[in-house]
Amino acid sequence: MTSTSRIATALKKVVAAAPLLLALGLAAPAAQAADASPWLNKTLTADQRATLLEKELTIDERISLVHGPMAMIFFPGMKLPEGAIGSAGFIPGIARLGIPAQQESDASLGVTNPGNVRPGDTATALPSSLLLAATFNPDLAYKGGAVVGTEARSRGINVQLAGGANLARDPRGGRNFEYAGEDPLLAGSIAGAAIKGIEDQHVISTVKHFAINDQETGRNFANSIISEQAMRESDLLAFQIAIEKGQPGAIMCSYNLVNGAYACGNDHLLNKVLKQDWGYKGYVMSDWGAVKSTDFAVKGLDQQSGEQLDKAIWFGAPLKTAVENGTIPAARLSDMTHRILRSMFAAGLFDAPAQVTVDKAANAEVSRQAASEGIVLLKNDGNLLPLAATAKTILIVGGHADAGVLSGGGSSQVTSDPDQLAIPVGGEGMMAAFNRMNFHASSPVKALKDRLPGATIRFDTGRYPAEAARKAKEADLVIVFGNQWMAEGDDAPDLNLPDGQDALIGALAEANAHTVVVLQTGGAVNMPWLDKTPAVLEAWYSGQKGGEAIADVLTGAVNPSGHLPVTFPVSIDQYPRGTMPGLGLPDGQVFDVHYDEGADIGYRRFAALGQKALFPFGYGLSYTRFSYSDVKVTGGDTLSVSFKVTNTGTVRGKDAPQVYLEQTPTQRTKRLIGFSKVDLAPGESTTVTLKADSRLLSQFDDKASHWTQAAGRYDVSVAHDAEEAGVKGGATLKFATRRP
Ligand code: BGC
Repeated sequence: MTSTSRIATALKKVVAAAPLLLALGLAAPAAQAADASPWLNKTLTADQRATLLEKELTIDERISLVHGPMAMIFFPGMKLPEGAIGSAGFIPGIARLGIPAQQESDASLGVTNPGNVRPGDTATALPSSLLLAATFNPDLAYKGGAVVGTEARSRGINVQLAGGANLARDPRGGRNFEYAGEDPLLAGSIAGAAIKGIEDQHVISTVKHFAINDQETGRNFANSIISEQAMRESDLLAFQIAIEKGQPGAIMCSYNLVNGAYACGNDHLLNKVLKQDWGYKGYVMSDWGAVKSTDFAVKGLDQQSGEQLDKAIWFGAPLKTAVENGTIPAARLSDMTHRILRSMFAAGLFDAPAQVTVDKAANAEVSRQAASEGIVLLKNDGNLLPLAATAKTILIVGGHADAGVLSGGGSSQVTSDPDQLAIPVGGEGMMAAFNRMNFHASSPVKALKDRLPGATIRFDTGRYPAEAARKAKEADLVIVFGNQWMAEGDDAPDLNLPDGQDALIGALAEANAHTVVVLQTGGAVNMPWLDKTPAVLEAWYSGQKGGEAIADVLTGAVNPSGHLPVTFPVSIDQYPRGTMPGLGLPDGQVFDVHYDEGADIGYRRFAALGQKALFPFGYGLSYTRFSYSDVKVTGGDTLSVSFKVTNTGTVRGKDAPQVYLEQTPTQRTKRLIGFSKVDLAPGESTTVTLKADSRLLSQFDDKASHWTQAAGRYDVSVAHDAEEAGVKGGATLKFATRRP
């Protein structure tokens, strides 16, 4: 029996058993009439339905909803909880009341299968979230979310641990590939659209990891020190925008501390910012193993997840005792369960039809489209690309490009093919045994051979640079892959490509002047060979159709339109922290990470200090050119910017025009306040109109706890990237204060 039919047979057996059906969250019980179960009345709001159901719960049932175990075999001897289909986590249902179990799966890039817990199960692997951000196209992020949501639901998974929205404060960040870049508007818009895509498929999505979880080094002990104003204008704003756009049912709080209190027990972040100021009505679930005590419930945490990783099941018996003896108010426990049920109703977990059809080919096509729009052409001297039809002999080197495309490691790792190449990474620590460099089986070598049947294409592994260079001399053109495998739990110590790949690329560039570099990285990297290589493509982690997408861009079947969602620095010295804070400290030792740059992340700090990037935020070349004109700005309550984009080149292409705030009445600044994605034929023009989110024009007043927009003149530029002067405009705004 094939693995897919094994799963199908297993699922059929499960569906035959009514109580298990409930446990799987596949449907509400048919027997329950709406009058006996008034919460099944779909005309009521999610809040009303949750109130009706919540009051029926016993204290034990309430407690059972607010904590749960991992649902995978993580330690030897572990067993799957009863009713769990196998995924990251599980909260049992309550059959008596028709409450479905919560089957929780990772992550943003697709439905994962940790440790092959659902034997042989594969899912569509989207490109990294950073690549999705590079599309500057929230519609694609939405489509990607819908793929993940549909595939989750088809497996009975109803909570997807997606929506990575942390900002890339440091280019060495191990999880930057799971997030959507360094800018709050871009990250919030991309993560928000992806979340909405999932929720629209009747699956709860998280947004994570709340908050200021901006490095992996010592992630359980790092104490992020940052001012209130700075976090409201940066990391928290990204979350706020993602929540507004995506309406996630859950927020996953992070491992680290923020200004001295653990994020999952952070009264200020959870109770004040999230629930009071933003009026968030969903629930806060902990990251796996991030709960330190029962009183985190009072600090705003609603659900303890992956509880085997914590010292105790704090939200089990200890919480029950605390509620019974009055240490923790019973009303708080009811609020916790109300929030969870509300999100379940809001996503349609009680109402959505059980059946869902997965069109694997269509989903793969979404992955390919995203990859095609997110690959960034960084350099193309002498229009070396698209590959000249005259190139008769092409040598492809390195990066396992014969096998597939690289993906990032950790909990977000999707298995797209049971036989995908997985190279053990090894090393020390808890994750060493699990770490594998996984390659989705979409070989760029094969894809290029398919597209260039007239060319002789050879592949060299790149293990011996001198030998590869010898072959390079014999070729018309060389394409070398540079891989940087990044994974959850580990930051890169520096920005060099590992395993001597920079030397390999340098040797090939010396040997052949027509050397094209294709990078597969988790974020920005150094390019010591850049002067010698005429063409560079940043392909990130391009997902299960990445090889095809890379070949399409290289050959011109797709005109590149990706733009950098992160700054590529000349050197890590342009960033505020030399070595990664906490590096080398023993586990358990809390250390401070001072985010003195405040809200000036990435390009904003580069602008403030007058630093030039290797490639700036927003940058990306095309095989055509776009010009901007007719900039008109109107003011009043907020800025509205309209401008004309014209394709002045000779081929069709997509552009991502960006609007930056340059000057407010009180300060010189640099801030993305709008962006768009347009598709134009040669000679064609279109007018884009963007209305700025007034928070991007304001400052957060931490004393008054609101946004203040100063009265006066605001100058903007319409530009191709954060460093270009662009076409200027401006208008006058009124004084305004707005709720936090
Ligand atoms: C990660 C989360 C993930 C969870 C469950 C944690 O280690 O930080 O992003 O959702 O595990 O797998």
